[in-house]
Amino acid sequence: MGVGEGSHLVDLACGTGSLAVQAARRGAVAHGVDVSEEMLAFAQVRAERFGVGPHRHRAGFLDYNHSGPLADVVTTKSALHQLQDLWKQQALLNAAGMLRPGGTFYLWDVILGFEPTGADRHLQQWIDTAGRPEGEGFTRADFEAHVRDEFSTYDWIIEGMLRRAGFDIVSRAFPSPTHAEFCCRRT
Ligand SMILES: C[S@@+](CC[C@H](N)C(=O)[O-])C[C@H]1O[C@@H](n2cnc3c(N)ncnc32)[C@H](O)[C@@H]1O
Repeated sequence: MGVGEGSHLVDLACGTGSLAVQAARRGAVAHGVDVSEEMLAFAQVRAERFGVGPHRHRAGFLDYNHSGPLADVVTTKSALHQLQDLWKQQALLNAAGMLRPGGTFYLWDVILGFEPTGADRHLQQWIDTAGRPEGEGFTRADFEAHVRDEFSTYDWIIEGMLRRAGFDIVSRAFPSPTHAEFCCRRT
């Protein structure tokens, strides 16, 4: 994504800060945004371990108000599915608003790349294979809860939202039927 010395990067829903810290280690002005105080505290410990200081913001996709220079890169990984589609669209508009024209938006998430008629089979296969034993990561119950309660949606819906938010889709990849990444440029 071309993140380097002097780049401005915003990672939305940054979690434990791995991406923001790596960007800061490359000399970027990095901002990690998350609703969770616990995640931000973990990110702080990680940053101290590497001797860098990304900016931390306790805020969400919808209410993070970016100040200072527009970002060159905005990223979000494994989190947009927390929002139902109305709010996903608003979150994408907010992300576009903090990016300079030509800047890069990177999205990775649970995004459904299969045909709707195959939903039963693909979702069942995901639930059956993705879970780890208790204490070693996300469990089968976590994936069941994801499908039942969270808001992952189809690739063609996400693509429409990205365009409406003001992004050109530069590349897309589907490493599995349930996951996708999009690399976009702010128009
Ligand atoms: C599965 S973690 C992913 C963290 C990180 N992006 C990564 O890939 O390691 C999801 C993160 O989304 C955050 N989150 C949930 N809802 C959010 C919201 N509305 N706005 C911002 N962050 C949110 C959670 O606190 C959590 O840190």
